[in-house]
Amino acid sequence: MSGGLGFPEGFLWGASTSAYQVEGAVDADGRGESIWDRFCRRPGAVEGGDTGETACDHYRRWRSDLDLLGELNLNAYRFSLAWPRLFPDGDGPANRAGFDHYDRLIDELLARGVTPLVTLYHWDLPQALQDRGGWRSRAVADCFARYADACFAAYGDRVRHWVTINEPWIVGVLGHLLGLHAPGEKDLRAAVTVMHHLLLAHGRAVQALRARRGEGRAGVAFSLFPNYPASDAPADREASWGSDGYVNRWFLDPVHGRGYPADMRRRYERRIGPLDMVRGGDTDIIAAGSDFIGVNFYTSRVMRAAPGAEPFGWEVAPTETGTPVTDTGWAIVPQTLTDLLLRLRADYGDIDVYITENGAVYSDGPGADGAVHDERRTRFLHEHLAAAHRAIDAGVPVRGYFHWSLLDNFEWAMGYAPRFGLVHVDYPSQRRIVKDSGRHYARVAAANALTPPGPAPRSRDA
Ligand code: FCB
Repeated sequence: MSGGLGFPEGFLWGASTSAYQVEGAVDADGRGESIWDRFCRRPGAVEGGDTGETACDHYRRWRSDLDLLGELNLNAYRFSLAWPRLFPDGDGPANRAGFDHYDRLIDELLARGVTPLVTLYHWDLPQALQDRGGWRSRAVADCFARYADACFAAYGDRVRHWVTINEPWIVGVLGHLLGLHAPGEKDLRAAVTVMHHLLLAHGRAVQALRARRGEGRAGVAFSLFPNYPASDAPADREASWGSDGYVNRWFLDPVHGRGYPADMRRRYERRIGPLDMVRGGDTDIIAAGSDFIGVNFYTSRVMRAAPGAEPFGWEVAPTETGTPVTDTGWAIVPQTLTDLLLRLRADYGDIDVYITENGAVYSDGPGADGAVHDERRTRFLHEHLAAAHRAIDAGVPVRGYFHWSLLDNFEWAMGYAPRFGLVHVDYPSQRRIVKDSGRHYARVAAANALTPPGPAPRSRDA
């Protein structure tokens, strides 16, 4: 540590993106179709009819976007590989041009002293695999393992940090129960099946990584939400514990060798019958070992009983008046990040933790002076880093922080309106402007210590 609010030596200061949200160039160099290309064409699926067709044009502008990482003093970058660029049919022949693209990106990152943290699956399943049943089909977990192994073979000499799957809960629930994300299904049994196959895919990928005996380390990026009861009433406490099972324990427990939690198994079985998608030996594969926990943290959930509410008779209570919220109405509760990190160590031991995502929607754009004065994001960032710092002080091995996101980008079903970036993107011109929050983050990263937000220097165009 370098002083009171210093971070450990070697701490990774990063920002995150994902392929479909930033790359655009959906037809370039032999890329295949993904489920998000298809979903975006469904009328009403995405706000304003937006699509990822162009996004931030990061596929073409990646070099100058890496300059932005430099401006932000970041020593790490989390991005995802687009499976349909590498295997346009999901499982067939590899696409050399796709592999070459990420080869160049990785080499350039390393040349600039930036550690890549590479996500293998950030939701852009090749449509060809969806046509074969998508994640509902167990065979897709095998396809994923082959795809993952091809990536380990191609990049494993340079990439040490792999996120296998991004947010299995969101893929299950938003993609297969609520129909809000691709592929847009609405079926609880499908959601549970998909979530199981995603965990199986993680386990198989870890096995493949271990078989290579290299230095690669892997983990899942979980969408974790600390849960709290709305009151002391037993039904609300039950709602909070149940919700914890639904969003957190259902994933953390099996990945860390505890198997699926019994209370949650019972809840699912009551709704959809036997969980026969879970076959003998699966839980051993899922527990094949993770080297780190990836934490995607945005907010927490205050839960209350709500008889009749889907799927389990509870609901998220409305945010209490007075709690600050982001422009999408998510409660800003940094202290709950400390709770969460402490809890991870208490329940799962001393495993390394990376905060793989954390961020907020603030729609501030350029003012008359051309700069983006997003003080609220600066404050959000500062408070969450302070929260992570408290957990580190208490002994939690948090090894890095990746802000979501480097750039304003395609926010899935919400389209381009919500802005999460440290860097503002003017979509028509593709002009980038480092926001004040980005400048603040740059000072923190350079100092490897939390510095007071203070007045930001005048922004320049990037
Ligand atoms: C997470 C996703 C990421 C982004 C943020 C805001 O759930 O992993 O792609 O959309 O939310």
